[in-house]
Amino acid sequence: MKIIESPAEMQRLADAARLRGDKIALVPTMGYLHEGHLSLMREGRRRASVLAVSLFVNPTQFGPNEDLAAYPRDMQRDCRLMESIPVDLLFAPQAQAMYPPGAQTWVEVTEVTQGMCGASRPGHFRGVTTVVAKLFNIVKPHIALFGAKDYQQLCAVRQMVRDLNFDVEIVPMPTVREHDGLAMSSRNAYLSPAEREKALSLSRALEAARACYVQGERNPYALAQRAREELGRDNAVSVEYVEVREATTLKEIERIDGPAVIAVAARVGRTRLIDNIVLEPSSN
Ligand code: PAF
Repeated sequence: MKIIESPAEMQRLADAARLRGDKIALVPTMGYLHEGHLSLMREGRRRASVLAVSLFVNPTQFGPNEDLAAYPRDMQRDCRLMESIPVDLLFAPQAQAMYPPGAQTWVEVTEVTQGMCGASRPGHFRGVTTVVAKLFNIVKPHIALFGAKDYQQLCAVRQMVRDLNFDVEIVPMPTVREHDGLAMSSRNAYLSPAEREKALSLSRALEAARACYVQGERNPYALAQRAREELGRDNAVSVEYVEVREATTLKEIERIDGPAVIAVAARVGRTRLIDNIVLEPSSN
């Protein structure tokens, strides 16, 4: 695996790969890899001849009171895991290389980012779409793989690609879960054993809502309420939002008559966790 820090060098290698006729897959990450990331890499490996991963804890997507400094990092372990896939190119720039002094351009998707995580994390999605646009220009992938666990991020990136004519196919990949249902996340590393137990209420709440949906409930508020009841048990978590929205536009809906997503964000102790499931008309 070749490790590249410089955006210019990465562009040179990407151009050379494209000239050779290679197909480039990109898996953008902030490191501290888990099985969710590895599933994206395996799929990228399967679909392309060159597998590139970016590892960059992007400062512009963290708010002033968020966990940028504390975000878990373990480059050595990450490299071992990537070698096992195997990854061909690791783009791991320093912040100054990505945001040199004087940078003043942002990429902002305005509607899909309203509400849900956008409400409590102002500027977060602007940071995400800006860095993803930069990564697309630097790594020049043909395809890029994103996990559905960060559902609003996935929708924002798809919208950006559509609106700005990026010639990149976005490949969504299912959320990878622990044996007991907990959605894999680098932030799970913050949880104590007791908190981890409480964190299970997120996936349980979503499954409870799905069960109502399968029984025929199509009122989004009733489904959200069912999830809230489950989250409220034992006051285990502090709920930030439970929302049911149209699955692509993330618009609010009065009744479910097509694919919808039910998404939740909650704090377990000091750790903020998110999870979601898509409700497909075929799932009952
Ligand atoms: O999902 C993430 O890890 C990040 O938001 C991403 C897409 C790598 C952008 O920094």
